[in-house]
Amino acid sequence: MVLVSGAGSNLQALLEACNDPTYGASVVAVGADREDIEALARADRVGVPTFVTRVGCFATREQWDGALAEKVDAFDPDLVVLAGFMKLVGGRFLARFEGRVVNTHPALCPSFPGTTGPADALAYGVKVSGATLFVVDAGVDTGPIVDQTVVPVEDDDDVQSLHERIKVAERRMLVDNVGRIAREGFTITDRKVRFAT
Ligand code: GAR
Repeated sequence: MVLVSGAGSNLQALLEACNDPTYGASVVAVGADREDIEALARADRVGVPTFVTRVGCFATREQWDGALAEKVDAFDPDLVVLAGFMKLVGGRFLARFEGRVVNTHPALCPSFPGTTGPADALAYGVKVSGATLFVVDAGVDTGPIVDQTVVPVEDDDDVQSLHERIKVAERRMLVDNVGRIAREGFTITDRKVRFAT
């Protein structure tokens, strides 16, 4: 199961990886918090079921979170991948799926959490940035780290050029690690994520 909010290039990389039967995973459904996004069109084009659960359709954030959990649960996923999902999942969602939700973030955690990672890294003047895949906990981009990938920051970068360079590395990292999670599983001890084999 993959949750998305935007362009869906990470989703696309996963969908393509799943075409290989040795990859070990398949995308059972794609969920979003908004309509009319390219990520949903990508899923539609290859016949993967989609759904949208909008925050604005619910009286409270908690109700939205519970409804999202119900929707996801109906597909009985082994793993939930947040791939450019620009909402924080809450207590109800985590109560059901904790330890089985991973998120990819376009910065080197614990630096620059939130929705503007590449812009914040650029403004700070860092010389390297990258992406982090982590197991989602109750914080904002604070969960145990599965993997990280590093890219240089160039002198003439703007937010878009830096984010695009990050996304190339990010997609590779995401595909590699989701496959390993599906095939091997992982353990978490004192925040250290280790593949089970
Ligand atoms: C990715 O870079 C992802 O890490 C980021 O949004 C982009 C989505 O791209 N997510 C966040 O910033 C979450 N805090 P995509 O829609 O092309 O996969």
